[in-house]
Amino acid sequence: MKIAPSILSADFLQLGAQVSEALEAGVRRIHIDVMDGHFVPNLSMGPLVVAALRPLAERAGAVLEVHLMIADPDRYLDAFSRAGATAMTVHVEACPHLHRTVAAIRSLAAQPGVAINPATPIAALDEILPDVDVALLMSVDPGFGGQAFIAGTIDKVARLRAELRRRRLDHVEIEVDGGVGAENIAALAEAGMTIAVCGTSVFDPHAPVATNIRSLRVACGLHAFSQES
Ligand code: DX5
Ligand code: ZN
Repeated sequence: MKIAPSILSADFLQLGAQVSEALEAGVRRIHIDVMDGHFVPNLSMGPLVVAALRPLAERAGAVLEVHLMIADPDRYLDAFSRAGATAMTVHVEACPHLHRTVAAIRSLAAQPGVAINPATPIAALDEILPDVDVALLMSVDPGFGGQAFIAGTIDKVARLRAELRRRRLDHVEIEVDGGVGAENIAALAEAGMTIAVCGTSVFDPHAPVATNIRSLRVACGLHAFSQES
């Protein structure tokens, strides 16, 4: 089980320091939420932020993952790749030609991921699962950090993990995004989640980033420090 801190909840005046702290705590996947004000109601960041974090990620051998909550993501894949993104996740709901989009991500030597919203059934992933590295289940409607976790996601993870096992696609990561914290991370991992996106629960200003990461690991019975891959 890996933790992918979502920088949407970071202190942007201290972004480099906070990401460094997460990397020093052994995290090896940084989640960057890209929003366009169309697919989701909010606006956030673009390739410039990816490029700024690139030296930190490269030094640590970490993946920079962009979660593209944008309409027509095909237009921006090259730009994110050039900026240093090594994993790119697009939404089923935003991609009419999903197979082509996933192939384009693969051709840029990035890990392709496909996301579905809470009300989208996992059957929407059926045809694309053999082509992806990551299936991302949203556990809130995308657009904002700090929203309440939708409890039905735990069962959704279990159903997707069973389907992946049945089709001998166990290597596909199941990533869960939205409202993940110490109170639900163990149940999600138990159900088959392998990547936990954690925004508020990692960048909660009440404690240092490294302490928050340790608490999440301990909540799922893991060693407080581990160098993730
Ligand atoms: C929501 C984003 C998430 C968000 C998670 O649209 O995709 O990655 O930052 O934040 P928390 O963990 O606070 O729900
Ligand atoms: Zn996200």
